[in-house]
Amino acid sequence: MPEQMRICAFIMATGHHVASWRTPGIPLENGTNFAYWANLARIAEAGKLDAIFLYDGAAISNIPIEPMSHGDRATFFDPMTLLPALAVVTSKIGLVATSSTTYDQPFYVARRYLSLDHLSGGRAAWNLVTGVNVREALNFGAAPMAHAERYARAREFAEVVRGLWDSWADDAFIMDKQSGRFFDPEKLQSLDHVGRYFTCAGPMCVPRSPQGQPVMVQAGGSEPGRELAAETADMVYTVQSDFESGREFYADLKSRMAKYGRAPDELKIMPGIYTIVGGSAQEADDIYGALRDLVDEDTARAMLGACLGGADISSVPFDGPVPDGLSTNAGTTHLKTMVKIAQDRNLSLRELAMDVAAGGYGHWAVRGTPVQIADQLEERFRGGAADGYNLMPATLPNGLQDFIRLVLPELQRRGLFRTEYSGSTLRDHLGLKRPPRRVRQPTPRPVLAVA
Ligand SMILES: Cc1cc2nc3c(=O)[nH]c(=O)nc-3n(C[C@H](O)[C@H](O)[C@H](O)COP(=O)(O)O)c2cc1C
Repeated sequence: MPEQMRICAFIMATGHHVASWRTPGIPLENGTNFAYWANLARIAEAGKLDAIFLYDGAAISNIPIEPMSHGDRATFFDPMTLLPALAVVTSKIGLVATSSTTYDQPFYVARRYLSLDHLSGGRAAWNLVTGVNVREALNFGAAPMAHAERYARAREFAEVVRGLWDSWADDAFIMDKQSGRFFDPEKLQSLDHVGRYFTCAGPMCVPRSPQGQPVMVQAGGSEPGRELAAETADMVYTVQSDFESGREFYADLKSRMAKYGRAPDELKIMPGIYTIVGGSAQEADDIYGALRDLVDEDTARAMLGACLGGADISSVPFDGPVPDGLSTNAGTTHLKTMVKIAQDRNLSLRELAMDVAAGGYGHWAVRGTPVQIADQLEERFRGGAADGYNLMPATLPNGLQDFIRLVLPELQRRGLFRTEYSGSTLRDHLGLKRPPRRVRQPTPRPVLAVA
């Protein structure tokens, strides 16, 4: 049996195309209808996908309000209130949410994900991001933090979270009515972390995770982002539009793991795939064309600006080429990816905005028949560019249903995707081992002299 792909469903509003909501048959949702989310989670679970993934940020998007008003993603639940509810209406599928390390506190993040992990029977994952949206800073009375500093903080943040997750031993709770001992104090350790950004004594007030630790996900692709992923991540979501960059990223990230004592298969690399499935290639092209015709041009331009991390394109002619030398303090990975796409395909700023920013945001766009899509996914999977994919349907829920109904059977026929879940935790689905608990040496306490 060959190694199989892992597939997550990245759920965004009513689809990853900004005009999806205007398409006939697509529900009108402002992000607050629980039944809508429950339906999507159940569809993904019926397809035996590994996990659903919910994007998050502590602010509305960083595009101006007027162009934002043409899209359906200005409002969204806190995923850590939504996922516990979805845990109740599902039983197998993994539940991944984003929390940023830039404005949150490690104790809260550790506690939230550990709680979700228990509520869901070991299906929780934390997508660690450093935040790309400058509006977030304004919600915390803070100045935007420099990229390098965000990552320095993120590294220490992750260390504290993982330390807190190791507070309790698996067998700490003896609950012996006879002796009157509820838990064994020897099987609980504090953290006593004192660092540059955080001081945290611990221990955590939630028992150890059913899957050892919640799954750690990372989605930053810059130099410090890759390094942090190599050290700490179990799964990486990434934006790779072409095969060669996908292979370069995959080889680079896996090669960084050895110095942290990790084997390459302890990390699953999942490029995003922006999909449109058609009965024929022409039908898929027609769906795509119809979506493009519904895009508000100013919205696309504003989305491109956000996608370029706020790099200044105000003086660049819309029908001219994308200039070199753009820079940003926000996420750098999307900026580089978008400039490369524009230059490789000779796209004007307008084409980049309408085709890419309003659609898959620089992620690999795959459209065609189920066999054409399966061929391409298999090629990159076998060719060393992916351990699986982060599925980003252009429209929801039908784009997810089409992928599951039409593409998955083709992958299953080739032995490339499961037909049943073989375990119950997210680590089981991803083929990841249960991490052992790291026991710390107790910090020697100074002996106080008695006067
Ligand atoms: C698939 C994917 C999902 C992401 N989800 C989020 C998110 O939910 N919230 C967020 O602030 N950033 C998100 N990001 C952006 C980042 O993870 C990261 O913070 C950003 O890329 C900056 O880091 P970098 O410069 O290392 O790329 C996502 C990126 C990718 C590729």
